[in-house]
Amino acid sequence: MTAKIIDGKVIAAEVREKVKEAVAERVKAGKQVPGLATVLVGENPASQVYVRSKRKACAEVGIESFGFELPATATQQEVESLVKELNADPKIHGILVQLPLPSHLDDQAVLGAISIEKDVDGFHPLNIGRLAMKGRDPLFVPCTPAGAMVMLEKTLPTLAGVNAVVLGRSNIVGMPVALLLIRANATVTICHSRSNDLPGICRGADVLIAAVGRPEMVKRDWVKPGAVVIDVGINRIEDPNAPKGSRLVGDVAYDEVAEVAGAITPVPGGVGPMTIAMLMQNTLRGAELADAKA
Ligand code: GUN
Repeated sequence: MTAKIIDGKVIAAEVREKVKEAVAERVKAGKQVPGLATVLVGENPASQVYVRSKRKACAEVGIESFGFELPATATQQEVESLVKELNADPKIHGILVQLPLPSHLDDQAVLGAISIEKDVDGFHPLNIGRLAMKGRDPLFVPCTPAGAMVMLEKTLPTLAGVNAVVLGRSNIVGMPVALLLIRANATVTICHSRSNDLPGICRGADVLIAAVGRPEMVKRDWVKPGAVVIDVGINRIEDPNAPKGSRLVGDVAYDEVAEVAGAITPVPGGVGPMTIAMLMQNTLRGAELADAKA
């Protein structure tokens, strides 16, 4: 079998187009232009690239972005004061603090300082807590997990009763995507570096979400024939044959797994573009929440 490729660029473009139309309609109706504040602390080159892409995507859909950069030496109080100013700014409907923060900063305290109505990353403990509770709904769902779910919904008729395995337990992806899968009535197993027999657990998956941050860890014999594989990993590996001397790979050994899987997301061009598209959708939602309060 050769897997169907789940094209994140195409699906993300559809989501962004819908956001763009909704933003244009808002503006036509005299409502506020949605505004996203990005907060970058320090000079992590990958974070700089991500923030630049997010701001570019904003411009393309008509969302106004406001970039804030603090030095790597910024104190906890300085970062939290900035967040509080942004909480109070009516032009801003979403606040994105790019992670990871420099190690001297307490990221949970920073994320907890963001107003839950502007928590477009969905990382505020109240939003995550609501995601985990039956009968409660978060105001925002974290972008990468939300994007992975859109890709699954486009690929499978239903997730109800499906055996889903999440490889990785991070706050940003593994845990929230597992919670979303439970909400979609999948039967969910979370496994990680301390689990016994990772290949065996993964082989039981109808849907496998790889989010461990280990280049090409998931091999062909870890995957059940026909399974849907969502690769969240973005890892740069050295490759003397690549033009830059390095290239991006996922957590899945793509070429060999594509021979057995039913469907698979590529890296790059898979989950990555979805993350940004969902951020645009969440920022639009932030503006809609502000309308409802006005
Ligand atoms: N770092 C890696 N992924 C993310 C994300 O989705 N949001 C933020 N703010 N930082 C990240």
